[in-house]
Amino acid sequence: MSQNLVSNIQVFASALMVRRAAREVFYVGKIIDGKAIAAEIREEIAADVVALKEQGVTPGLAVVLVGDDPASRVYVTMKEKACEKAGIFSDEHKLPAETTEAQLLALIEELNNDQRIDGILVQLPLPDHIDESKILESISPVKDADGFHPYNVGRLVTGNPLYQPCTPFGVMKMLEYTGVDLTGKAVVVVGRSNIVGKPVALMCLAQHATVTICHSRTRDLPGKVAQADVVIAAVGRPEMIKGSWIKEGAVVIDVGVNRVGEKKLVGDVEFEAAKERASAITPVPGGVGPMTITMLLYNTVEGAKRRANQ
Ligand code: GUN
Repeated sequence: MSQNLVSNIQVFASALMVRRAAREVFYVGKIIDGKAIAAEIREEIAADVVALKEQGVTPGLAVVLVGDDPASRVYVTMKEKACEKAGIFSDEHKLPAETTEAQLLALIEELNNDQRIDGILVQLPLPDHIDESKILESISPVKDADGFHPYNVGRLVTGNPLYQPCTPFGVMKMLEYTGVDLTGKAVVVVGRSNIVGKPVALMCLAQHATVTICHSRTRDLPGKVAQADVVIAAVGRPEMIKGSWIKEGAVVIDVGVNRVGEKKLVGDVEFEAAKERASAITPVPGGVGPMTITMLLYNTVEGAKRRANQ
């Protein structure tokens, strides 16, 4: 065996050992630690940003907010701060609620042609007078860091993804980092939104799972959930999925973030009861939440890598 091959094998083996050891860090008991996984991926992203800057390419993300929805404002501010921390150029556009569709289309056109920008994100929901589909379709598919353009949706459906939507992509990374192999597993997705339910189902299918998508009209939801090796909850209803429905040893990923009362946040799953039956479960907060922005940074940097290699 050549010396080169021996040292390559050694490097590969030690990388595997590091990953295996690190995996233990991603659990506290059976609780999957989204913050720890997000922090690990953000470190890798920051290193990629340094390497890109050495090649003369600074990754850039444009974030567009129309109106003053308080939750959207908070998300947009978090996105700006995360960009800054990762060394990504963040170009914010905060527009008044009365911005016309034509004005927004003109801004997107400008950003599509701006060489400094690798990713464009238009925060949803948009005010009622603006056609959301028209806006999402106006974003260049090669700058679509949210993965919502029909071109990117189509590439996900056909199993050849370019940009993948951030929250479901984050769910898949969590499963990967916690060592869950989906091959042949029964995955039940509760929720059929374009942002989470549908794309996460396609991503699980690509990983060879047998996928069921449940929604508000599904008959016998408890019975469907009880069959699942992996439950992915994305309905936006506080603790709707009862702990007693969960199969012994199942993995539970809770995408829901629901405010109850003044301060308390709960997921879509009845956490304490589900934890008793699950082999691994994400908490709310501190589970899927930190992954969404992480994957947005990831997508932006992947876009910048493609620009660097043009
Ligand atoms: N609103 C809620 N979630 C999202 C998201 O992932 N991206 C955008 N652009 N808007 C959102």
